[in-house]
Order: sequence, then C-alpha cells, then structure tokens
Amino acid sequence: MAKRTKIKQILSSDKEGYEATVKGWVRTFRNNQFVALNDGSCLSTLQLVVDYENEDAAKLKRITTGSAISATGQIVPSQGRGQKYEMTVKEIEILGDADPEKYPLQPKRHSLEFLREIAHLRFRTNTFSAIFRIRHQLAFAIHQFFHEKGFVYIHSPIITGSDAEGAGEMFHVTAMDLNEIPRTEDGQVDYKKDFFNKETNLTVSGQLEAELGALALSEVYTFGPTFRAENSNTSRHLAEFWMIEPEVAFNDLSDNMDLAEEMMKYVIKHALDHCAEDLEFLQQRLENEEKQKPQKDRSPMPLIEKLNFCIDNEFVRLPYTEAINILKNSKPNKKGKFQFPIDEWGADLQSEHERYLVEKHFKKPVILIDYPKDIKAFYMRMNEDDKTVAAMDVLFPGIGEIIGGSQREERLDMLLKRMDEMDIPQHEMEWFLDTRRFGTCQHAGYGLGFERLVLFVTGMSNIRDVIPFPRFPGHAEF
Ligand code: 4AD
Ligand code: MG
Repeated sequence: MAKRTKIKQILSSDKEGYEATVKGWVRTFRNNQFVALNDGSCLSTLQLVVDYENEDAAKLKRITTGSAISATGQIVPSQGRGQKYEMTVKEIEILGDADPEKYPLQPKRHSLEFLREIAHLRFRTNTFSAIFRIRHQLAFAIHQFFHEKGFVYIHSPIITGSDAEGAGEMFHVTAMDLNEIPRTEDGQVDYKKDFFNKETNLTVSGQLEAELGALALSEVYTFGPTFRAENSNTSRHLAEFWMIEPEVAFNDLSDNMDLAEEMMKYVIKHALDHCAEDLEFLQQRLENEEKQKPQKDRSPMPLIEKLNFCIDNEFVRLPYTEAINILKNSKPNKKGKFQFPIDEWGADLQSEHERYLVEKHFKKPVILIDYPKDIKAFYMRMNEDDKTVAAMDVLFPGIGEIIGGSQREERLDMLLKRMDEMDIPQHEMEWFLDTRRFGTCQHAGYGLGFERLVLFVTGMSNIRDVIPFPRFPGHAEF
C-alpha cells in the first residue's frame, strides 16, 4: 500500500486532485458514508466519503468510533462546511477494530475527571491531543531559546544523595529488601549495605549540579524530571514534574529577572506562532467551561488575548516588603477574605496572595524579589540588610508562582553560616562548597515548573491535565 500522507499536510497544502493514503482513528461515521478521520498530526479531521453502495457491508460495520483505518482515494475540494478538502475513498482497510459496546470514548462531551481515569485513551480527544501538541512545542521552544543563546544543556542526575531545597520532601531510592532491612548496631537503617552504599533519593531539583556546570561553562540549563513527596493535593502540584533550571555565572538578580522575562515571552510567542489551531480550540473550550462559573471567577480575557498580553507588557518587579504592604491594606485582607490573613512582615505568601497581586492589583505578571531569609532556601544570597535574600518568584495570572529562583550565595563564609543555621550537614555538601572555595563568583539561576507553563498556555485549570500520566498522592497509574 502507498506511503501515508499526514492529514495536516493535506489540509494545509493548496494541492487537490491527487491520490493519497491516510491512516488514523475514526472519530465519527455518519450516514454509512462520512468518516471523520484523525491522525493526531493536527486537530482537524479529514472527511472520507465512502462509496457505501459498492462497499462490503460487513466492512462498513467495522468502521466505528475509535477503530484504526487506512484509506486511499482522491483529495478533492469539499462540499461540506468548515473543511477545505475531503477524500473520495477508493479503497478502505480496517487496521484495528474498536468494539462500540466497549470503547469508552464515544463522540460526546466527557468530563475531564472521567478522562483522567482513562488517561491511556485521553490522547485521542481533541482537548488532550491539543494540549500535548502544545506541550511539545513549548519544550522545543525552551531548548531553542537556550540553544540560540549559547547555553549548554546539562543532564543533572535523577538519583542523588542531596536535598537541594532542604525541604526534606524526598522519595527514597533503595534496592534493599524492605522485609529485611539491614540495621546498624544502634538500630538505624544501614545504608552502607544498600546499592549505592549511602542513602539516596529522587532529585527535587537539578540546581546544585547546574551550579557546578555554570562555574565552568558559564551558561547552562537543565530540563528534566523532578520529584517531590509533598502531600499537596492541589490543582498546581504534582509529585513528578519537569523543571527547567538555567544557571548563569556572573549574573546578578537583575540579569536573572531579565533572562526569565525574555524566556517566558519567547516560549509563549513560539506557542502563538506554532499552535494557532490548537490554541483557538482551547480558547473556545475555556469559554464554554467558564460559562458555568460565576462572573467573578471567569478569566478577564480570552486565552489568546491573555497570552499576547503577557508578551506585550513588562513584568512588574517588586520587593517582598512592598508586596506585604499592598496585601496588608488590600480589601480581601481587611474583610477577612484571605484564608491566610496577612498581618506581619515575614509571612510566607500563599497562592491566594500571589494571585491577588497579579490578577487584581497589578493585572500583569509580577516578579517578587528580596524575600525574608527564613522562608527561602539556604543557597540564596544574603542582602545587605541581613534580613532578606536575593530571591525572585515570578507570579502569573491564574497560576501564582510559575518560576522560583535567586542570586546564589557565592561567599563561602556566608554560605556556611546559613547552612549551619538551617541544620544542613556540611560533610554531605563538600562537593558543592568546593565551587565557593575555588574560583567562586557571582551567579544566579531559577527554576521554571514546566507543567505550570503548560497550564498557563493551554488555559487548563488542573495540572493533572497537562502531563500525560500525572503522579499525585494516591495515584501512580500506568
Ligand atoms: O521554587 P522551587 O522549589 O525552586 C527550586 O527548586 C529551585 N532549585 C529552582 C532554581 O533556582 N534553580 O521550584 C521551582 C518551580 C516553581 O516555581 C514551580 O513552578 C515548580 O517549580 N514547582 C512545581 N510544579 C509542580 N508541582 C510541584 N509540586 C512543584 N513544586 C515546584
Ligand atoms: Mg518556590
């Protein structure tokens, strides 16, 4: 049989009157004559017009929603609405049946919750195929952005002995027989008898290893899976997520903000330029979904306008101390509407506060800087005031924190002091401290949560719907 042509290619070319072979999955089959065929190359289906009077009736019966077929025929201008071309089928072959009594995806609207339970099939829906094509484009754009700038892509380890964030939310990695755990004389687990002869975990961040790279290659980034055993059952947290972590020697906090803003605008623009059809579909989906919500909970802008708005506007840059003042005096705080009221300097910001600043107060993306040292990680650079550190969080509408980063503490004595204050054992971190002992220099970096970016660009509201196989408390299917 002839080589297959992708439906995207047929629909986007100006050619007609030629013979082609397409392969894909049937979305619908109407009047024993019209097949809507999708092959995942684009959102649109190709209409196949079957000559049912001269076709084997038993074969026609097998053309059902979800079945895989191959069809060969002429590509001709379509008489139907909303499509440029269709195929006049000469030959059709059933590649794989899908029993209509059992196939769970019927041509009707399914809830996202239901689709999450059949995540192995949800790729076949318009919504999820659009999301995953956009996810691909965003990943590609990230690599392209850093590549064009001359960054080196570093693969940081997935199994590690370190807890980069010092938050202790780690999944252990072991090859021990859990029914017969070797113990030391004083009853502790004897990790010396484990696979790596030490305690190991899945990485929570590639930052510390990226710093080692940056202090030699000067501009590096990681893009890999990270794991957090935090028991957060929210629409913005996953136990396994992907993170992009650039790290740049000689950069300060202001350079770090410039890089983050430029990167976000670049990748969002890439999505607008390369995913128009999928974004328009998701925009419509969002509009339909929001019709069910009260006016005040609806997004102020349609999806594509929101994306353009982020590209066209400068992000607000604001010290934490000023943000606290704004929040303290805000209406929701005074009226007791925040779940976590803000009453004093030093409070950690919750997603409700971040979203208030971005969505209600500034109505723009905001970069908050100079957080109190007590609510941030040990590696952030101490500011002159001895109270705050050179941290930055980028806050986005509908999302809250999308990026977290900082200028790093490059002064050995200061770093040791912070590690001591925060009970981080020095002997496990000698390799990291060596960068401060030998040729230390100013440097900065950040981490972008990839799924939060995909969430923002697709306008979806639950992070579990923008990663193919989400992992969260109680769930590790597939
Ligand atoms: O703010 P975080 O914890 O920062 C770090 O890990 C630093 N080491 C980054 C760096 O400076 N190189 O995480 C960074 C980002 C967050 O802003 C958020 O977007 C995302 O990672 N993130 C999560 N995304 C999904 N699920 C979770 N449980 C996440 N935790 C963090
Ligand atoms: Mg953070």
